[in-house]
Order: sequence, then C-alpha cells, then structure tokens
Amino acid sequence: MSNIIKVLKGTKDILPQDIEMWHFLEKKAEQVFSKYGFKEIRTPIIEVTELFSRGVGDTTDIVNKEMYTFEKSDRSITLRPENTAGVVRSFIENGMSRLSAPVKLWYHGPMFRYERPQAGRQRQFHQVGVEMFGIEQATADAEVILAAVNYLKALGLHDLDVEINSLGCPKCREEFKTNLKQVLKPYFDELCEDCQKRYEKNPLRLLDCKVESCKKIFEKPEVQEVIKSDFICDECSEHYTELKLYLQKMGVKFSENKLLVRGLDYYNRTVFEIKSNNLGSQNAVAGGGRYDSLVEQLGGEHTPAVGFAMGMERLISLLPTKEPKKLDAYVVSTFQTDAFLMAEELRHQGLNVEFDLTNKKFSKQLEKASKVAKYAIILGEDEILNHQVSIKNLEQGKQITVDRANCVKMMSL
Ligand code: HAM
Repeated sequence: MSNIIKVLKGTKDILPQDIEMWHFLEKKAEQVFSKYGFKEIRTPIIEVTELFSRGVGDTTDIVNKEMYTFEKSDRSITLRPENTAGVVRSFIENGMSRLSAPVKLWYHGPMFRYERPQAGRQRQFHQVGVEMFGIEQATADAEVILAAVNYLKALGLHDLDVEINSLGCPKCREEFKTNLKQVLKPYFDELCEDCQKRYEKNPLRLLDCKVESCKKIFEKPEVQEVIKSDFICDECSEHYTELKLYLQKMGVKFSENKLLVRGLDYYNRTVFEIKSNNLGSQNAVAGGGRYDSLVEQLGGEHTPAVGFAMGMERLISLLPTKEPKKLDAYVVSTFQTDAFLMAEELRHQGLNVEFDLTNKKFSKQLEKASKVAKYAIILGEDEILNHQVSIKNLEQGKQITVDRANCVKMMSL
C-alpha cells in the first residue's frame, strides 16, 4: 500500500455520504436565486491568464501568488481562482449587453487558489454566487445582498453578520489614497513587503493586510483618523445612504466596517461580507460588491454590475450533517430472476430499488435490506405463485401481503 496515490494537499473528495448536502445547497440556490430572476450560467474552469491579471488585478494576492497557471500551445492558461471575471468575459463575448437590463446570472462550481490550506481554506473549493449587470442604482446592491441573506436563511443559517462599506468611486478615492499614503509615509519601512508594494500600486488594499505589525500601524490615532474620515463624494455617499435605507426597509441587519476593502481590485462603491462567529479565522461565508468598471476594463461597453460569491465548504461546515438517503425498496428473494424482474418493474414505476446480485441466504438479504432501504419487498414461493408480494416496512417492522399490481400503492411512500 506504500505506492497508493493520494489526493493533492488542499483538495478533497466529495464522497457519496456527503453528496446529499451538496445537492441541498445547489437545489436551494436554484430555488432562491430564481425567485429574484437569476438564471444559471456555467463557464469553463480554464480561462486565459490575462483575464484574471486584468480582471482581478495584478496587485492582489490571488493574481500574484495563488493562481494555478500553465502553458499550452504557447498560451498561458489559468484555473479560475474566482468566477466574476469569467462571467464578465462571457457577458461580453455573448453580447449580453444587448439584453434588457438587468441581466441576472447565478453559478456554482469549483475555484482554485494556491493558498496555505487550513480549516475553511482549500486549494480547490466551491463557490455559489450571483452577478447582476446593467443597474447603477442602489436597489441592485440591496437586492443582491437580500438574495444572499435569503439564500442563507433557506439553508437554515439565520444569525450571520452582514458587514458593508463604500469604497467610493475612482475620483473620490484619489484624495483618500493621497491622505492614507501621507499618514503612512513615516511608517513605510515598518510595513510588510506586500504592503510596501500596495503602498505604490493600490494603497486602499493596505487596509486588508492581516500581518500583525501592519495592523498595529493602522491602529495609530492619526491613521485611524484618515481611515474613519468620510472621503466619499456626494454621489457615492447618496448611493451608500440609499443602500442602507433599502436594507433597513427589507429587514436586513448590518453593520458598517470602514476597514472592509476586499481582496480583489475591481470593486467600487458597495462592498460587503457575511461572516460567522463559528468559523474560526476564515470567518467569511460570502463576499461581494459593485464593480462598475470591470466590463469596460475587459473590453465591453460601460456596464455597472454587482454580485457576490459564497464558499460552499464553509456553508456546509455551519450546517448539521445530513443522513444519506435510503433506497425506497430492497427486493428480498432467493428466486433471483423474479427478484431481478421485480426490482426493474419497481424502478420503472419511479422507485429507487436494489436486490441481491449474488443470491445470498434469505436472512442475509433481509439484514441488508434493513440497513439500506425503507421497505423490503419479499418474494417467497407463495407470493410468486399467487402474483403477490409481501411488503415489510423496515422502520416500523409491519408486514402486509398484497397483489403484485398494488405494490407501489400499498407502500405509501
Ligand atoms: P472572495 O471573497 O475571494 O470573492 O470569495 C468569496 C467567498 O469564497 C469567501 O467569502 C469564502 O467563503 C470563499 N473562499 C474564498 N477562498 C476560499 C478558499 N481558499 N477556500 C474555501 N473557501 C474560499 C470572490 O471570489 C468574488 N468573485 C466575489 C464576487 C462576486 N464579487 C462580486 N461578484
């Protein structure tokens, strides 16, 4: 057994005993997001690398450190680290800007980031998310957040914390960036290597740093003063106020977090995260926001957009486990051909059915049936002769004998 091949670090099998939960998450996503008019989209797992370096941003950890990139026929290809850029590419390529706004899309599927694996953080993980195109008004931001909250509620997750912030627009952000750089200048040498790069390229993302020594610098009173200053312009401020009003009217509880800047470059105005206290350090179940320039940046027409994605593994870790589904029936008979025919007949009538393919002893078959099925359908010599079956309810132990034609009706499934 020393030469067995193992699953790659940071990746996991989703085994048959776990699949029930994944189907539950996917079914609920389709039910809840459809109510808001979102349609499902499936884009490829591989895309050209440039999509992410241009889309997600070349100052982000995702693009700088975490992408699975390889060459094929002289093209640089990357396993998608997230799905917003891919959906935007598809939106542009398939002329979806010609459709009447809003264009509402939802998706689920695997994403890949070469991160250090830990609880709640994998290298292959799954996201479920939505993207809405074409609406500038804060109603869109509010509807997207509401859809996220209602999806979580439909899963049975009620007490999660919604945090929001506004990053303003590129215009009003300039002044904030200048002030932030100025106040941090005396501490430049003490900033971590990543923050020193961010200082030049995208100072706003300094606030997202998780390094303790950097966090201490950001806690200094003069830096806090800049962080807490209301730097956003009147238009952005109005948009943010409207969002907060809509959320209040819709009964969505939220708090404001000025340090929330998110780890991707494409956001402007609204950003939000939904967090759980029960998840340890990787506590974000959802992250999203508005990205009004991304469609244009990737070659399309100017199209405002807003969306979010949730980590499905993190959602599952918050939910009680689900028992694997039992078969509807297990045919118990030592007359193998009759058992085979009966199983197939019941399958044609819509039931999930198995029978013993190896013709073990009757008692062994019954034992197996009680482990895997809700009902045992028993075909002894008498039953076969009289065109009957005995139905044993394996949860209650009751047994009845009925005409074969009435079998399914009498099972009261
Ligand atoms: P993100 O914050 O990078 O945003 O990821 C969204 C969620 O995916 C996180 O809140 C977390 O639950 C989950 N997640 C991220 N990385 C991992 C990992 N390594 N292991 C397990 N779960 C993980 C985005 O991806 C944006 N595309 C969201 C968005 C959509 N913004 C606008 N539209």
